[in-house]
Amino acid sequence: MKTGVVSFTIRRYVWAEGEGIVVDKRVLLLIGGGVAAYKALELIRELSRRGIGVRAVLTRAAKEFVTPLSVAALSGDKVYDDLFSLTDETEMGHIELSRSADLVVVAPATADLMAKAATGLANDLASTALLATDKPVLMAPAMNVRMWEHPATRRNLRTLKNDGVLFVGPDEGDMACGEFGFGRMAEPLAIADAVTSWYGHGGSAAGAAAAGSLRGKRALVTAGPTREPIDPVRYLSNLSSGKQGYAIAEALGRLGADVTLVTGPTELADPRGVTTVRVETAREMLKACENALPTDVFVSVAAVADWRPAAPAETKIKKNGAAPEPLALAENPDILKTLAGKKKKRPGLVVGFAAETCDVAANARKKLAAKKADWVVANDVSGDVMGGADNQIILVRPDGDEPWPKMSKTDVADRLAAKIAERLAASP
Ligand code: CTP
Repeated sequence: MKTGVVSFTIRRYVWAEGEGIVVDKRVLLLIGGGVAAYKALELIRELSRRGIGVRAVLTRAAKEFVTPLSVAALSGDKVYDDLFSLTDETEMGHIELSRSADLVVVAPATADLMAKAATGLANDLASTALLATDKPVLMAPAMNVRMWEHPATRRNLRTLKNDGVLFVGPDEGDMACGEFGFGRMAEPLAIADAVTSWYGHGGSAAGAAAAGSLRGKRALVTAGPTREPIDPVRYLSNLSSGKQGYAIAEALGRLGADVTLVTGPTELADPRGVTTVRVETAREMLKACENALPTDVFVSVAAVADWRPAAPAETKIKKNGAAPEPLALAENPDILKTLAGKKKKRPGLVVGFAAETCDVAANARKKLAAKKADWVVANDVSGDVMGGADNQIILVRPDGDEPWPKMSKTDVADRLAAKIAERLAASP
Protein backbone atom coordinates (compact mmCIF):
# COMPACT_ATOMS: atom_id res chain seq x y z
CA MET A 1 0.00 0.00 0.00
CA LYS A 2 1.29 3.39 -0.94
CA THR A 3 1.42 5.89 1.87
CA GLY A 4 1.48 9.62 1.46
CA VAL A 5 2.11 12.57 3.67
CA VAL A 6 -0.83 14.82 4.40
CA SER A 7 0.16 18.27 5.47
CA PHE A 8 -1.93 21.26 6.39
CA THR A 9 -1.18 24.73 7.54
CA ILE A 10 -3.10 26.83 9.98
CA ARG A 11 -2.75 30.49 9.10
CA ARG A 12 -1.80 31.99 12.38
CA TYR A 13 -3.24 35.43 12.81
CA VAL A 14 -1.84 37.49 15.63
CA TRP A 15 -3.35 40.54 17.20
CA ALA A 16 -0.13 42.41 17.91
CA GLU A 17 3.34 42.43 16.36
CA GLY A 18 4.95 39.01 16.48
CA GLU A 19 5.01 35.72 14.68
CA GLY A 20 2.30 35.11 12.07
CA ILE A 21 0.07 37.28 9.90
CA VAL A 22 -0.78 40.52 11.66
CA VAL A 23 -4.36 41.54 11.06
CA ASP A 24 -5.80 44.98 11.43
CA LYS A 25 -9.39 43.74 11.66
CA ARG A 26 -10.25 41.92 14.85
CA VAL A 27 -13.46 40.38 16.03
CA LEU A 28 -14.15 39.02 19.50
CA LEU A 29 -16.47 36.05 18.96
CA LEU A 30 -18.59 34.99 21.93
CA ILE A 31 -19.88 31.47 21.28
CA GLY A 32 -23.05 30.66 23.22
CA GLY A 33 -24.23 27.19 24.16
CA GLY A 34 -26.61 25.95 21.49
CA VAL A 35 -26.61 23.38 18.71
CA ALA A 36 -25.79 26.19 16.27
CA ALA A 37 -22.38 26.54 17.97
CA TYR A 38 -20.97 24.22 15.32
CA LYS A 39 -21.70 26.93 12.74
CA ALA A 40 -19.39 29.25 14.70
CA LEU A 41 -16.50 27.11 13.41
CA GLU A 42 -17.53 27.83 9.82
CA LEU A 43 -17.89 31.51 10.74
CA ILE A 44 -14.32 31.64 12.09
CA ARG A 45 -13.06 30.05 8.89
CA GLU A 46 -15.05 32.49 6.72
CA LEU A 47 -13.87 35.55 8.68
CA SER A 48 -10.25 34.35 8.54
CA ARG A 49 -10.63 33.84 4.78
CA ARG A 50 -11.66 37.51 4.59
CA GLY A 51 -8.56 38.58 6.54
CA ILE A 52 -10.40 39.22 9.81
CA GLY A 53 -8.73 37.89 12.97
CA VAL A 54 -10.97 36.09 15.44
CA ARG A 55 -10.43 35.73 19.18
CA ALA A 56 -13.01 33.41 20.69
CA VAL A 57 -14.69 33.06 24.06
CA LEU A 58 -16.68 29.89 24.75
CA THR A 59 -19.39 29.76 27.39
CA ARG A 60 -19.44 26.68 29.60
CA ALA A 61 -22.51 25.39 27.70
CA ALA A 62 -20.84 26.06 24.33
CA LYS A 63 -18.10 23.61 25.30
CA GLU A 64 -20.78 20.89 25.28
CA PHE A 65 -21.22 21.52 21.56
CA VAL A 66 -17.74 22.47 20.24
CA THR A 67 -14.34 21.86 21.73
CA PRO A 68 -11.91 24.65 22.63
CA LEU A 69 -9.32 22.71 20.62
CA SER A 70 -11.24 22.96 17.32
CA VAL A 71 -11.98 26.66 17.95
CA ALA A 72 -8.30 27.32 18.73
CA ALA A 73 -7.18 25.39 15.64
CA LEU A 74 -9.41 27.45 13.35
CA SER A 75 -8.84 30.84 14.96
CA GLY A 76 -5.11 30.21 15.39
CA ASP A 77 -5.39 31.83 18.82
CA LYS A 78 -5.90 30.91 22.45
CA VAL A 79 -9.54 30.31 23.40
CA TYR A 80 -10.88 32.01 26.51
CA ASP A 81 -13.57 30.48 28.67
CA ASP A 82 -12.98 31.19 32.33
CA LEU A 83 -13.81 34.43 34.14
CA PHE A 84 -11.60 33.57 37.10
CA SER A 85 -8.62 32.05 35.30
CA LEU A 86 -5.41 33.21 36.99
CA THR A 87 -3.29 32.63 33.88
CA ASP A 88 -5.72 34.49 31.62
CA GLU A 89 -5.99 37.35 34.08
CA THR A 90 -2.22 37.76 34.17
CA GLU A 91 -1.92 37.48 30.38
CA MET A 92 -5.07 39.46 29.50
CA GLY A 93 -7.79 40.61 31.87
CA HIS A 94 -11.43 40.26 30.89
CA ILE A 95 -11.78 44.02 30.55
CA GLU A 96 -8.94 44.19 28.07
CA LEU A 97 -10.26 41.10 26.26
CA SER A 98 -13.62 42.79 25.79
CA ARG A 99 -12.01 45.83 24.25
CA SER A 100 -9.21 44.28 22.22
CA ALA A 101 -11.45 43.80 19.17
CA ASP A 102 -13.14 46.25 16.78
CA LEU A 103 -16.45 44.43 17.02
CA VAL A 104 -17.96 41.86 19.38
CA VAL A 105 -19.92 39.14 17.58
CA VAL A 106 -22.21 36.81 19.55
CA ALA A 107 -22.95 33.62 17.59
CA PRO A 108 -24.98 31.77 18.56
CA ALA A 109 -26.69 34.40 20.73
CA THR A 110 -28.80 32.10 22.90
CA ALA A 111 -31.93 33.28 24.73
CA ASP A 112 -29.83 33.14 27.91
CA LEU A 113 -27.02 35.33 26.55
CA MET A 114 -29.53 37.82 25.13
CA ALA A 115 -31.33 37.98 28.51
CA LYS A 116 -28.05 38.52 30.36
CA ALA A 117 -26.96 41.25 27.93
CA ALA A 118 -30.38 42.96 28.11
CA THR A 119 -30.35 43.07 31.90
CA GLY A 120 -26.63 43.68 32.38
CA LEU A 121 -25.95 40.40 34.17
CA ALA A 122 -22.28 39.43 34.26
CA ASN A 123 -21.71 36.03 35.80
CA ASP A 124 -19.38 34.39 33.30
CA LEU A 125 -16.69 35.51 30.88
CA ALA A 126 -18.98 36.00 27.86
CA SER A 127 -21.60 38.08 29.72
CA THR A 128 -18.87 40.04 31.54
CA ALA A 129 -17.19 40.83 28.22
CA LEU A 130 -20.57 42.04 26.87
CA LEU A 131 -21.03 44.34 29.87
CA ALA A 132 -17.45 45.59 29.91
CA THR A 133 -17.02 46.23 26.21
CA ASP A 134 -17.02 49.69 24.69
CA LYS A 135 -17.22 48.22 21.18
CA PRO A 136 -20.27 47.65 18.96
CA VAL A 137 -21.99 44.29 19.37
CA LEU A 138 -23.51 42.15 16.60
CA MET A 139 -25.74 39.26 17.68
CA ALA A 140 -26.84 36.22 15.65
CA PRO A 141 -29.71 34.77 17.71
CA ALA A 142 -30.35 31.02 17.71
CA MET A 143 -33.01 29.30 19.74
CA ASN A 144 -36.21 27.27 19.59
CA VAL A 145 -39.11 29.09 17.88
CA ARG A 146 -41.19 29.24 21.11
CA MET A 147 -38.25 30.75 22.98
CA TRP A 148 -37.75 33.29 20.17
CA GLU A 149 -41.44 34.22 20.26
CA HIS A 150 -41.68 34.35 24.07
CA PRO A 151 -42.59 37.85 25.34
CA ALA A 152 -39.44 37.86 27.49
CA THR A 153 -37.20 37.35 24.45
CA ARG A 154 -39.17 39.94 22.44
CA ARG A 155 -38.68 42.38 25.34
CA ASN A 156 -34.96 41.62 25.52
CA LEU A 157 -34.65 42.04 21.76
CA ARG A 158 -36.28 45.48 21.94
CA THR A 159 -34.02 46.52 24.82
CA LEU A 160 -30.90 45.34 23.03
CA LYS A 161 -31.93 47.10 19.80
CA ASN A 162 -32.53 50.29 21.78
CA ASP A 163 -29.07 49.85 23.29
CA GLY A 164 -27.69 49.87 19.73
CA VAL A 165 -26.96 46.14 19.43
CA LEU A 166 -26.96 45.01 15.79
CA PHE A 167 -28.70 41.80 14.70
CA VAL A 168 -28.38 39.33 11.87
CA GLY A 169 -31.10 36.65 11.61
CA PRO A 170 -32.58 34.51 12.95
CA ASP A 171 -33.87 32.59 9.95
CA GLU A 172 -36.96 30.51 9.47
CA GLY A 173 -36.48 26.79 8.93
CA ASP A 174 -36.29 23.29 10.36
CA MET A 175 -34.67 23.20 13.76
CA ALA A 176 -32.54 20.64 15.51
CA CYS A 177 -35.38 20.23 18.05
CA GLY A 178 -37.69 19.01 15.27
CA GLU A 179 -39.85 22.16 15.14
CA PHE A 180 -40.16 24.63 12.27
CA GLY A 181 -40.15 28.40 12.48
CA PHE A 182 -38.00 31.40 13.31
CA GLY A 183 -35.01 30.87 15.54
CA ARG A 184 -32.47 29.14 13.31
CA MET A 185 -29.16 31.00 13.38
CA ALA A 186 -28.29 32.97 10.24
CA GLU A 187 -25.86 31.12 8.00
CA PRO A 188 -22.14 31.83 8.63
CA LEU A 189 -21.93 33.50 5.21
CA ALA A 190 -24.69 35.98 6.14
CA ILE A 191 -23.03 36.72 9.51
CA ALA A 192 -19.65 37.21 7.81
CA ASP A 193 -21.38 39.53 5.30
CA ALA A 194 -22.81 41.58 8.17
CA VAL A 195 -19.33 41.84 9.71
CA THR A 196 -17.69 42.82 6.42
CA SER A 197 -20.46 45.30 5.75
CA TRP A 198 -19.80 46.85 9.16
CA TYR A 199 -16.10 47.19 8.33
CA GLY A 200 -17.11 48.60 4.94
CA HIS A 201 -18.61 51.53 6.82
CA GLY A 202 -15.40 52.53 8.52
CA GLY A 203 -15.83 50.26 11.52
CA SER A 204 -16.98 53.12 13.69
CA ALA A 205 -19.94 52.99 16.04
CA ALA A 206 -21.68 55.48 13.77
CA GLY A 207 -20.74 53.34 10.79
CA ALA A 208 -22.11 50.28 12.55
CA ALA A 209 -25.39 51.97 13.15
CA ALA A 210 -25.51 53.12 9.55
CA ALA A 211 -24.53 49.78 8.07
CA GLY A 212 -26.69 47.64 10.24
CA SER A 213 -29.71 49.78 10.67
CA LEU A 214 -32.65 51.09 8.68
CA ARG A 215 -34.06 52.93 11.66
CA GLY A 216 -35.97 55.99 10.49
CA LYS A 217 -36.28 54.63 6.93
CA ARG A 218 -39.51 53.62 5.19
CA ALA A 219 -39.73 50.52 3.02
CA LEU A 220 -42.45 49.24 0.70
CA VAL A 221 -42.49 45.60 -0.43
CA THR A 222 -44.92 43.80 -2.74
CA ALA A 223 -45.32 40.03 -2.52
CA GLY A 224 -47.34 37.04 -3.63
CA PRO A 225 -49.44 36.60 -6.75
CA THR A 226 -52.39 38.71 -7.81
CA ARG A 227 -55.79 37.20 -8.56
CA GLU A 228 -57.70 38.50 -11.58
CA PRO A 229 -61.40 37.53 -11.57
CA ILE A 230 -63.00 35.79 -14.50
CA ASP A 231 -66.33 35.55 -12.68
CA PRO A 232 -67.30 35.45 -8.97
CA VAL A 233 -65.78 31.95 -8.51
CA ARG A 234 -62.92 31.77 -11.01
CA TYR A 235 -59.71 33.73 -11.46
CA LEU A 236 -56.35 33.95 -13.28
CA SER A 237 -53.29 33.74 -11.04
CA ASN A 238 -49.86 32.12 -10.71
CA LEU A 239 -47.81 29.86 -8.42
CA SER A 240 -46.13 32.54 -6.29
CA SER A 241 -46.23 31.63 -2.56
CA GLY A 242 -45.18 35.06 -1.27
CA LYS A 243 -42.40 33.55 0.87
CA GLN A 244 -39.54 35.59 -0.61
CA GLY A 245 -41.38 38.91 -0.38
CA TYR A 246 -42.56 38.26 3.19
CA ALA A 247 -39.01 37.29 4.20
CA ILE A 248 -37.67 40.53 2.70
CA ALA A 249 -40.33 42.65 4.45
CA GLU A 250 -39.48 40.98 7.76
CA ALA A 251 -35.71 41.30 7.23
CA LEU A 252 -36.08 45.05 6.51
CA GLY A 253 -38.24 45.35 9.63
CA ARG A 254 -35.60 43.56 11.70
CA LEU A 255 -33.10 46.22 10.61
CA GLY A 256 -35.46 48.85 12.02
CA ALA A 257 -37.27 50.06 8.86
CA ASP A 258 -40.93 51.09 8.96
CA VAL A 259 -42.19 48.50 6.45
CA THR A 260 -45.45 48.28 4.49
CA LEU A 261 -46.03 44.94 2.80
CA VAL A 262 -48.64 44.95 0.05
CA THR A 263 -49.49 41.36 -0.68
CA GLY A 264 -51.72 39.38 -2.97
CA PRO A 265 -53.54 36.31 -1.58
CA THR A 266 -51.18 33.89 0.20
CA GLU A 267 -51.41 31.28 2.92
CA LEU A 268 -48.75 33.01 5.01
CA ALA A 269 -49.34 34.79 8.31
CA ASP A 270 -48.70 38.54 8.43
CA PRO A 271 -44.98 39.03 9.13
CA ARG A 272 -44.08 40.44 12.54
CA GLY A 273 -43.26 44.11 12.89
CA VAL A 274 -44.62 44.98 9.43
CA THR A 275 -47.81 46.77 8.29
CA THR A 276 -49.51 44.30 5.96
CA VAL A 277 -52.06 45.37 3.36
CA ARG A 278 -53.88 42.51 1.65
CA VAL A 279 -55.16 42.98 -1.90
CA GLU A 280 -56.43 40.74 -4.68
CA THR A 281 -55.85 42.32 -8.08
CA ALA A 282 -52.94 44.12 -9.75
CA ARG A 283 -54.91 47.36 -9.85
CA GLU A 284 -55.65 47.14 -6.13
CA MET A 285 -51.97 46.43 -5.51
CA LEU A 286 -50.92 49.54 -7.44
CA LYS A 287 -53.37 51.69 -5.50
CA ALA A 288 -52.16 50.35 -2.13
CA CYS A 289 -48.54 50.97 -3.16
CA GLU A 290 -49.27 54.54 -4.21
CA ASN A 291 -51.00 55.12 -0.85
CA ALA A 292 -47.82 53.95 0.91
CA LEU A 293 -45.58 56.55 -0.78
CA PRO A 294 -43.22 58.28 -0.09
CA THR A 295 -40.73 55.57 0.78
CA ASP A 296 -36.95 55.24 0.91
CA VAL A 297 -36.90 51.84 -0.74
CA PHE A 298 -39.35 49.86 -2.84
CA VAL A 299 -38.77 46.14 -3.34
CA SER A 300 -41.10 44.72 -5.98
CA VAL A 301 -41.25 40.99 -5.37
CA ALA A 302 -44.88 40.31 -6.32
CA ALA A 303 -45.61 38.07 -9.27
CA VAL A 304 -48.18 40.46 -10.65
CA ALA A 305 -50.49 38.96 -13.27
CA ASP A 306 -49.63 40.72 -16.52
CA TRP A 307 -53.18 40.29 -17.85
CA ARG A 308 -56.68 40.35 -16.46
CA PRO A 309 -60.01 39.28 -17.97
CA ALA A 310 -61.19 42.45 -19.72
CA ALA A 311 -64.80 42.14 -18.56
CA PRO A 312 -65.24 39.76 -15.62
CA ALA A 313 -68.74 38.28 -15.49
CA GLU A 314 -70.92 39.39 -12.61
CA THR A 315 -72.50 35.98 -12.26
CA LYS A 316 -70.97 32.54 -12.61
CA ILE A 317 -70.39 31.68 -16.26
CA LYS A 318 -72.51 28.64 -17.18
CA LYS A 319 -71.71 25.77 -19.52
CA ASN A 320 -74.25 25.94 -22.29
CA GLY A 321 -73.13 23.02 -24.39
CA ALA A 322 -71.23 25.16 -26.89
CA ALA A 323 -67.46 25.84 -26.92
CA PRO A 324 -66.71 28.71 -24.48
CA GLU A 325 -66.00 32.17 -25.80
CA PRO A 326 -62.23 32.96 -25.81
CA LEU A 327 -61.39 35.06 -22.76
CA ALA A 328 -60.72 38.67 -23.76
CA LEU A 329 -57.75 40.02 -21.75
CA ALA A 330 -56.59 43.50 -20.85
CA GLU A 331 -53.06 44.40 -19.79
CA ASN A 332 -52.49 45.15 -16.11
CA PRO A 333 -50.52 48.18 -14.93
CA ASP A 334 -46.83 47.52 -14.33
CA ILE A 335 -46.44 48.52 -10.67
CA LEU A 336 -42.64 48.50 -10.64
CA LYS A 337 -42.40 50.60 -13.79
CA THR A 338 -45.06 53.01 -12.56
CA LEU A 339 -43.36 53.67 -9.21
CA ALA A 340 -39.84 53.80 -10.69
CA GLY A 341 -41.02 56.26 -13.33
CA LYS A 342 -42.64 58.72 -10.91
CA LYS A 343 -41.32 62.27 -11.15
CA LYS A 344 -42.43 63.15 -7.64
CA LYS A 345 -42.32 60.59 -4.86
CA ARG A 346 -40.07 58.11 -6.73
CA PRO A 347 -38.75 55.76 -4.01
CA GLY A 348 -35.07 56.49 -3.24
CA LEU A 349 -34.02 52.96 -4.19
CA VAL A 350 -36.10 50.79 -6.51
CA VAL A 351 -35.39 47.05 -6.49
CA GLY A 352 -37.18 44.81 -8.97
CA PHE A 353 -37.25 41.05 -9.29
CA ALA A 354 -36.95 39.15 -12.53
CA ALA A 355 -38.47 35.69 -12.69
CA GLU A 356 -36.75 33.98 -15.61
CA THR A 357 -36.55 30.48 -16.98
CA CYS A 358 -33.64 31.10 -19.41
CA ASP A 359 -30.89 33.72 -20.10
CA VAL A 360 -31.47 34.87 -16.52
CA ALA A 361 -28.88 37.68 -16.21
CA ALA A 362 -29.40 39.02 -19.76
CA ASN A 363 -33.19 39.16 -19.37
CA ALA A 364 -32.85 40.78 -15.95
CA ARG A 365 -30.56 43.44 -17.39
CA LYS A 366 -33.24 44.24 -20.00
CA LYS A 367 -35.82 44.60 -17.20
CA LEU A 368 -33.45 46.86 -15.23
CA ALA A 369 -33.38 49.29 -18.16
CA ALA A 370 -37.00 48.89 -19.32
CA LYS A 371 -38.49 49.40 -15.84
CA LYS A 372 -35.99 52.08 -14.71
CA ALA A 373 -35.16 50.08 -11.57
CA ASP A 374 -31.90 50.68 -9.69
CA TRP A 375 -31.27 46.98 -9.01
CA VAL A 376 -32.86 43.78 -10.24
CA VAL A 377 -32.76 40.53 -8.30
CA ALA A 378 -32.80 37.88 -11.01
CA ASN A 379 -34.03 34.43 -10.11
CA ASP A 380 -34.23 31.28 -12.14
CA VAL A 381 -37.77 29.99 -11.66
CA SER A 382 -37.37 27.00 -13.97
CA GLY A 383 -36.94 24.61 -10.97
CA ASP A 384 -38.98 24.53 -7.75
CA VAL A 385 -38.26 28.13 -6.68
CA MET A 386 -41.91 29.17 -6.74
CA GLY A 387 -43.27 27.78 -3.48
CA GLY A 388 -39.92 26.24 -2.45
CA ALA A 389 -37.73 27.25 0.53
CA ASP A 390 -34.54 28.06 -1.41
CA ASN A 391 -33.60 30.55 -4.04
CA GLN A 392 -30.62 31.12 -6.31
CA ILE A 393 -30.24 34.65 -7.48
CA ILE A 394 -28.01 37.11 -9.33
CA LEU A 395 -28.06 40.70 -8.09
CA VAL A 396 -27.97 42.80 -11.26
CA ARG A 397 -26.86 46.41 -10.84
CA PRO A 398 -25.80 48.94 -13.47
CA ASP A 399 -22.14 48.40 -12.46
CA GLY A 400 -22.19 44.60 -12.73
CA ASP A 401 -23.71 41.27 -11.77
CA GLU A 402 -23.27 39.55 -8.40
CA PRO A 403 -24.23 35.87 -8.43
CA TRP A 404 -25.11 34.56 -4.95
CA PRO A 405 -24.80 30.89 -3.96
CA LYS A 406 -28.02 28.90 -3.55
CA MET A 407 -29.44 29.75 -0.13
CA SER A 408 -32.69 29.82 1.80
CA LYS A 409 -35.20 32.57 1.02
CA THR A 410 -34.62 34.01 4.50
CA ASP A 411 -30.87 34.20 3.86
CA VAL A 412 -31.54 35.93 0.52
CA ALA A 413 -33.78 38.35 2.43
CA ASP A 414 -31.17 39.07 5.13
CA ARG A 415 -28.44 39.59 2.58
CA LEU A 416 -30.57 41.85 0.41
CA ALA A 417 -31.74 43.86 3.45
CA ALA A 418 -28.11 44.34 4.54
CA LYS A 419 -27.20 45.54 1.03
CA ILE A 420 -30.14 47.95 1.04
CA ALA A 421 -29.09 49.30 4.46
CA GLU A 422 -25.56 49.75 3.16
CA ARG A 423 -26.76 51.58 0.07
CA LEU A 424 -29.16 53.88 1.95
CA ALA A 425 -26.43 54.64 4.48
CA ALA A 426 -24.08 55.59 1.62
CA SER A 427 -26.64 57.96 0.05
CA PRO A 428 -28.91 59.20 2.83
N1 CTP B 1 -44.03 43.69 -12.03
C1 CTP B 1 -44.94 44.62 -11.61
N2 CTP B 1 -46.13 44.75 -12.25
C2 CTP B 1 -46.42 43.95 -13.29
C3 CTP B 1 -45.51 42.98 -13.73
C4 CTP B 1 -44.32 42.86 -13.08
O1 CTP B 1 -44.67 45.37 -10.65
N3 CTP B 1 -47.58 44.09 -13.88
C5 CTP B 1 -42.71 43.63 -11.37
C6 CTP B 1 -42.45 42.39 -10.56
O2 CTP B 1 -42.83 42.58 -9.20
C7 CTP B 1 -40.93 42.25 -10.70
C8 CTP B 1 -40.64 42.79 -12.07
O3 CTP B 1 -41.74 43.62 -12.40
O4 CTP B 1 -40.25 43.08 -9.78
C9 CTP B 1 -40.47 41.77 -13.15
O5 CTP B 1 -41.55 40.85 -13.14
P1 CTP B 1 -41.52 39.57 -14.09
O6 CTP B 1 -42.75 38.78 -13.86
O7 CTP B 1 -40.18 38.88 -13.98
O8 CTP B 1 -41.51 40.20 -15.52
P2 CTP B 1 -42.60 40.85 -16.40
O9 CTP B 1 -42.42 42.33 -16.37
O10 CTP B 1 -43.96 40.35 -16.04
O11 CTP B 1 -42.14 40.35 -17.83
P3 CTP B 1 -42.21 38.87 -18.46
O12 CTP B 1 -43.40 38.20 -17.83
O13 CTP B 1 -42.37 39.15 -19.90
O14 CTP B 1 -40.91 38.20 -18.12
